[in-house]
Amino acid sequence: MINSTEHLSLRQDVIASGKSLQRSLHAVLLNRVRNGAPDSIQAHASALETARWTLKQTLETPRALPEALAPSLSQALNVAPRTHPHLVSILDALSTLWPHLTWINRQARADQDSAFVERHRHGMITGPEGLFECPTLTLGLALMLPETCYPYHQHPPAEFYLVLSPGEWYREDVGWWSPGPGGLVFNPPSCVHAMKSRQAPLLALWGLLHSEAELCR
Ligand SMILES: [Fe+2]
Repeated sequence: MINSTEHLSLRQDVIASGKSLQRSLHAVLLNRVRNGAPDSIQAHASALETARWTLKQTLETPRALPEALAPSLSQALNVAPRTHPHLVSILDALSTLWPHLTWINRQARADQDSAFVERHRHGMITGPEGLFECPTLTLGLALMLPETCYPYHQHPPAEFYLVLSPGEWYREDVGWWSPGPGGLVFNPPSCVHAMKSRQAPLLALWGLLHSEAELCR
């Protein structure tokens, strides 16, 4: 049980980590925009730059990360790329934030293998069920155990992933490829996409523009 002073200090740490994550992720996306990334990445970057993140009233989460996945998160964070100051800031922020996130899992459709359901979680940072209220962007942290396939799916909003681990990614116009830790994946509106982990856990930050994002995961 923590006292009110400790609770206030913890909230301040969480708010500071949220600001650091927002600032550094914006810088990473902006850098890719300057290097010719699609216009939608610009929209995501703008949403990160202008949105005000408001910490929800309670730091208690109704759905913590299951114990079976916690070692994979620690493993992934420990080996994630710290090759640039912005990546260091992002990973430090995630290390502070993850215990306070609500971790949700996508359910399988009738035509999908359901093995992935208990082998993945999304830690919700902003947007619906997010730790922070944010009017424009839904941001999550995807975690998958090794040897897991996240099914082919599609949704109207464009989506970006900042890849933080090894793993393979699929987009219908590209096929399967490995962006590598630190890579950026962009999925245009309504394109079919998927991802899978091999020997290592898969970890990636993802973002969807909020107005279109609900019910899309
Ligand atoms: Fe998606």
